[in-house]
Amino acid sequence: MTKLGVNVDHIATLRQARQAPEPDPVAAAILAELAGADGITVHLRGDRRHISDRDVRILRQTITTRLNLEMAVTEQMMDFALEVRPDSATLVPEREGEVTTEGGLDVIKNEKTIREATEKLQKAGLEVSLFIDPKPDQIERASSVGATMIEINTAAYAEAVPKGLKESNKAFQSELKKVIAAAQLAESAGLSVLAGHGLTYRNVGPVSDIPQIVELNIGHNIVARASLVGMERAVQEMLEAMNPAR
Ligand code: PXP
Repeated sequence: MTKLGVNVDHIATLRQARQAPEPDPVAAAILAELAGADGITVHLRGDRRHISDRDVRILRQTITTRLNLEMAVTEQMMDFALEVRPDSATLVPEREGEVTTEGGLDVIKNEKTIREATEKLQKAGLEVSLFIDPKPDQIERASSVGATMIEINTAAYAEAVPKGLKESNKAFQSELKKVIAAAQLAESAGLSVLAGHGLTYRNVGPVSDIPQIVELNIGHNIVARASLVGMERAVQEMLEAMNPAR
């Protein structure tokens, strides 16, 4: 069965909306684990708009599954990751002012920087994953820079079905095919394959059934539901929505 990594960034977004001490993403992460999450993901942004350094440090000491740190390749983030030592680091592009991550890394254009960062993090014992669009040339380059994992960006797939699978159309089918082809290519290149971005209770089924994809990282939609029904129920319901054909 496909694993679920829960991204708790937007619990912190709610806290930061009032610069308050709660809700605490650490508490949310523990509840997510109790509900069956296989890992916890946080994105420490340069502007610290949601997750803070303190959150990552405490998560490192408290959670019992796996901690995945999403990070841009900057000197500051590299120093932080090497100090706090999450289980894995997912390298992502970051543009100041963006609402959310806007696309995958350009591994071809930034090959040297990504290769050096990957090597440094791996030497310190971290697994390194690269967040990339479902494009064959990017996937091939990801394996040649030394990464052992990739996370396929499912944003275009998710955008093709904004209101759910019942409204599936040609764009949905073609975006799904791109994700399937990318997953197959990545696996044949020896990479572990993850996927995420924009996944929801309604659109997660087909992606979670792609056999090469071992784990999904899902954040906003789980937190949105958790704000109404609670974290544990929201995580359990996402796990139930995954793998309909397995
Ligand atoms: N994977 C990556 C690399 C991301 O940047 C994000 C957003 O923080 C996610 C997964 C989760 O996306 P969403 O919040 O849309 O589920």
